[in-house]
Amino acid sequence: MSGLFITLEGPEGAGKSTNRDYLAKQLQMHGLEVVLTREPGGTPLAERIRELLLAPCDEGMNPDTELLLVFAARAQHLSSVIRPALNRGAIVLCDRFTDATYAYQGGGRGLSEERIATLENFVQSGLHPDFTLIFDLPIEIGLERAAKRGRLDRFEQEQRSFFESVRQTYLARAAASLERYRVLDAAQSLDHVQRQIDRLVPEFLGRTRG
Ligand SMILES: Nc1ncnc2c1ncn2[C@@H]1O[C@H](COP(=O)(O)OP(=O)(O)OP(=O)(O)O)[C@@H](O)[C@H]1O
Ligand SMILES: [Mg+2]
Repeated sequence: MSGLFITLEGPEGAGKSTNRDYLAKQLQMHGLEVVLTREPGGTPLAERIRELLLAPCDEGMNPDTELLLVFAARAQHLSSVIRPALNRGAIVLCDRFTDATYAYQGGGRGLSEERIATLENFVQSGLHPDFTLIFDLPIEIGLERAAKRGRLDRFEQEQRSFFESVRQTYLARAAASLERYRVLDAAQSLDHVQRQIDRLVPEFLGRTRG
């Protein structure tokens, strides 16, 4: 594989989608092919699985069911979109990936890291992001931003402690692997966050040509 795989992570309303589009523009200015995608989803079938995951559910979703659905969508996304793009040398910018599974299904729902790692190995066969940007901010600020969008999805309806665990799991993962993760202060103004992204662009470009 010759492309570059960059994921954007962080709790609700942190600015992942907004800044994914901004980063794409910066990279496209250098004439690079950039593929924008997201999880759960990224293909028509995986987007249908996303709908199952996000829709409020009276029955209550078993955490293992949730975990398996996330990885089922990921298997489809990897084979239809991510691997083909990387194979032709594109930069893939993916809004959430497996770090979100560790944060939400692990930190949030309490599933063990081991259980998640088993599925990660099974589905990804050693493919991991080259870089992961963590948009970090106090959860109240993110939830306030996300709430402006209207109706809350199944995750957004969770308790404060759920989101606190999500945030702490992201930070712990970043601290354990400094080469891959870049933690951004997402509580700052959008302009300030984008200046933080600008500083990372040369590093990404260096990796695509190196
Ligand atoms: N740094 C910022 N300061 C203020 N508002 C921001 C900032 N970044 C993003 N926003 C706004 O906050 C809202 C949420 O941003 P965005 O959709 O990019 O977040 P997200 O991380 O993708 O959220 P979700 O996890 O819910 O998809 C948007 O209305 C966006 O314009
Ligand atoms: Mg988003």
